[in-house]
Amino acid sequence: MARQDGFGSSFGTLIALIGSAVGLGNLWRFPYLVGTNGGAAFIIIYLICVVFLCLPGMISEFVIGRRSQQDVYGAFKVLAPGSKWKYAGLVCVLGVTTVLSFYCVVGGWTIDYLIKAIGMKFSVADQGAFNNIFTSVSTSSTKNTFYMLIFLVCTCAVVLMGVKNGIEKCNKVMMPVLFVLLIVIMVRSLTLPGSGEGMKFLFKPDWSKVTTSTVIAALGQGFFSLSLGCGTIITYASYSNKKDNLFKTSGLTALADTMVAILASIAIMPSVFSYGISPTQGPGLAFVTLPYVFANMPFGWLMGILFFFIMFIAAISSSISLLEVMVAYLIEEFKANRMKATLLSFSVVLILGTLCALSQGALSGVHIFKKNIFDFFDFISANVLMTGGGLLAVLFVGWRLSKKDFKDEFTSSGKYNYSPWFLSTVLLLIKYLAPIGVALIMINGLI
Ligand code: PFF
Repeated sequence: MARQDGFGSSFGTLIALIGSAVGLGNLWRFPYLVGTNGGAAFIIIYLICVVFLCLPGMISEFVIGRRSQQDVYGAFKVLAPGSKWKYAGLVCVLGVTTVLSFYCVVGGWTIDYLIKAIGMKFSVADQGAFNNIFTSVSTSSTKNTFYMLIFLVCTCAVVLMGVKNGIEKCNKVMMPVLFVLLIVIMVRSLTLPGSGEGMKFLFKPDWSKVTTSTVIAALGQGFFSLSLGCGTIITYASYSNKKDNLFKTSGLTALADTMVAILASIAIMPSVFSYGISPTQGPGLAFVTLPYVFANMPFGWLMGILFFFIMFIAAISSSISLLEVMVAYLIEEFKANRMKATLLSFSVVLILGTLCALSQGALSGVHIFKKNIFDFFDFISANVLMTGGGLLAVLFVGWRLSKKDFKDEFTSSGKYNYSPWFLSTVLLLIKYLAPIGVALIMINGLI
């Protein structure tokens, strides 16, 4: 069935892909991983992982989506008719459903924190108070559920407007705003006294902190940050134009995503150092340490508002891409209209998201494999579903799709010329290195 909706231009595709990739992973997870894994040493390893493992993964998913022009389930079905490969698409649909369920809860925290920042609730001076604020935010059943619901409704509203008029248009506004505001915070951070120490930490590698787990953490972060393994790239690529330069679009997405992650670290680390706080704070960095730093710096109230606004934009542009995978699947496989597909996806995520939202409050006694519901969803998506989906995608392109089909799609039917040497190297990375890398993240996570 011919598609009625799709991205309007190659820039539209690129900005939507960047919107999907740039998310909480860049602003929240990357800076704290840098902080706990030896600063610049981690950044260097991360860059290598992105170029040699994650980019080939992204190219594979792009090839699958654009060649098939289908939703994630239909894509494998069309490219490998009559085979079991279509179940790889189902793994992706399950993956996005679980990721979205807990992602909406964290998205809800960004709204809660944004409202607190606007209401100048961060004027308390000692760090313990910020620990208490975070504990009360993450354990309150009503607030958690309420803000998760608001976040999910915002996500659905954009997806409901369609690919071109909703997803593309919103990303075209949100991404430049995010970029500019991040630069403003970065400048503020760099002009604080003592910020040079933070820059040294970020750009002078400490190799003594590097272990095998650093490499696997970098690989896992690259995988999550580029939105691999969930079918979002497959779905977005299926809306792109056949004439677009696939390699350039994938490369620019990876570049923009990495730049935002590094800019976010520059916006955060110098301020953290300037206030004499250890950079190795872990997950609390964005929700505990930073509000404390903002409360104490000149113009910090404004920086707090801007920072949590950016977090919100980043989170929603990613959640839109996650929801679109579910919606496209329902529209194309069950012939639902966009309204019905969005409502059904909303209902499923609302139920699962509520379970996650309550997991540190009313349902804190419920454990699956010794984890609360939120942590279980995080664990199962990161270590089984996303990695499983990503692994199947690279294996499919490397081993199932013919070399001729790969070349045809990669070069947009011969429109772009690459040397045979370059094409073979890309295929080699997809065939061997990428699957080994993804399998490593999976095994490491599971044991
Ligand atoms: N890339 C997003 C982030 O860095 O926060 C998270 C994400 C979005 C993962 C979409 C997977 C996905 F399909």
